[in-house]
Amino acid sequence: MKQRTISSSFAAFLECSGCQKKYNLSQANTFSKCCNKPLLVNYRVTESFLKEDLTQRENTMWRYFEMLPVQNKQNIVSLGEGMTPLIRLHNLEDKYGFSHLLMKDESGNPTGSFKARGMSAAVSKMKELGINKCIIPTAGSAGVALAAYCASANIHCVVVMPTHTPDILKKECQLYDAKLILVDGLISDCAIKAKEINADENYFDVSTLKEPYRLEGKKTMGYEIAEQLHWVLPDVIIYPAGGGTGLIGIWKAFLEMLQLGWISGPLPKMIAVQSENCAPVFSAYNDPVNWKKSFHAKPSVANGLVVPDPFGMDLIQKVIYESDGDIVVLSEKAIIDGAREVAKAEGILLSPEGSATWKALNVLLERPGRRASGNKINKSDSVLLLNTGSGYKYPDLMAML
Ligand SMILES: Cc1ncc(COP(=O)(O)O)c(C=O)c1O
Ligand SMILES: [Zn+2]
Repeated sequence: MKQRTISSSFAAFLECSGCQKKYNLSQANTFSKCCNKPLLVNYRVTESFLKEDLTQRENTMWRYFEMLPVQNKQNIVSLGEGMTPLIRLHNLEDKYGFSHLLMKDESGNPTGSFKARGMSAAVSKMKELGINKCIIPTAGSAGVALAAYCASANIHCVVVMPTHTPDILKKECQLYDAKLILVDGLISDCAIKAKEINADENYFDVSTLKEPYRLEGKKTMGYEIAEQLHWVLPDVIIYPAGGGTGLIGIWKAFLEMLQLGWISGPLPKMIAVQSENCAPVFSAYNDPVNWKKSFHAKPSVANGLVVPDPFGMDLIQKVIYESDGDIVVLSEKAIIDGAREVAKAEGILLSPEGSATWKALNVLLERPGRRASGNKINKSDSVLLLNTGSGYKYPDLMAML
């Protein structure tokens, strides 16, 4: 059979996630000024892109080029991100009686986390738009990934990070030649600092979901999960949510694949996991109007989960609702215990964020379902956990195990 070549991207326009107003894809847009909400890339999925086309494609997330926002392939800035392994957790299955337990292990991505996917897309698009200066407030891993891709693309990058972030992440940013600014506080304080630095708007702001393309890179996890499972999705996906980009992105991928005709329903229940030190998704779920009034956040061993006021909150809640998903909040101790347990049982060194997904599964087994009768999930369900980053970036956690 003749191999079809990659055609062009199907990306058509940006759309306000509040009112669906259209924004131009060829301008340097950040978030919607009409509703102060994230902008989503909308694709014209009428042309044919067949899953069979994937068989001979490159082994990176760019194999889904048609469903990514870069118009010209020459602008792709890639360090080999994506196509991470799906690992069957046989020992945990046996020990706890699960039928089908999988982990998508994102730790092998460039810079050791799934943030590489988002930054490959964002920096590629910056290159395409001719942007040469950017800034990011970050909990850690996103700043490192941005710094690496900017080094590759010759883009100047400023990373604003909490002082308490693991030293290895700070050092790595500097090695990639980013300008590193430390702030005593959480990512929300870094965002204030970044805004101050960028008062003249000289820098392109790459904050989570205030920039439309990181989401597109992250969504490729959803495409890969489907492709690697031969287009049959798991019953449940458990995701460690900070700003929520991965959760929103994976769901977006599923909806796009329904349009492409690559999968059919039902779609997985999407579960967000948070630390009790910072659980805004849980607070907003329980009290959508007043949650901010009494909300407090503290640092967590899972520093990627500490995002006190996610810009994409509405989208996160929508995914949880539409998928009949749920939110699980864990203690710091549970997160640490989980990493130890998975290391001993499976030989995998999880990031603390990844560890949270394993412990959340145990909580969910006890929880009654919202719509269907019975429990939220069962041991006979196929469950996919996301290990979003490498345990090697957390020497302090390792010392606690
Ligand atoms: C390892 C890791 N996992 C999960 C997250 C949360 O990702 P998101 O903000 O996309 O929800 C982060 C964010 O920094 C992270 O670094
Ligand atoms: Zn709007």
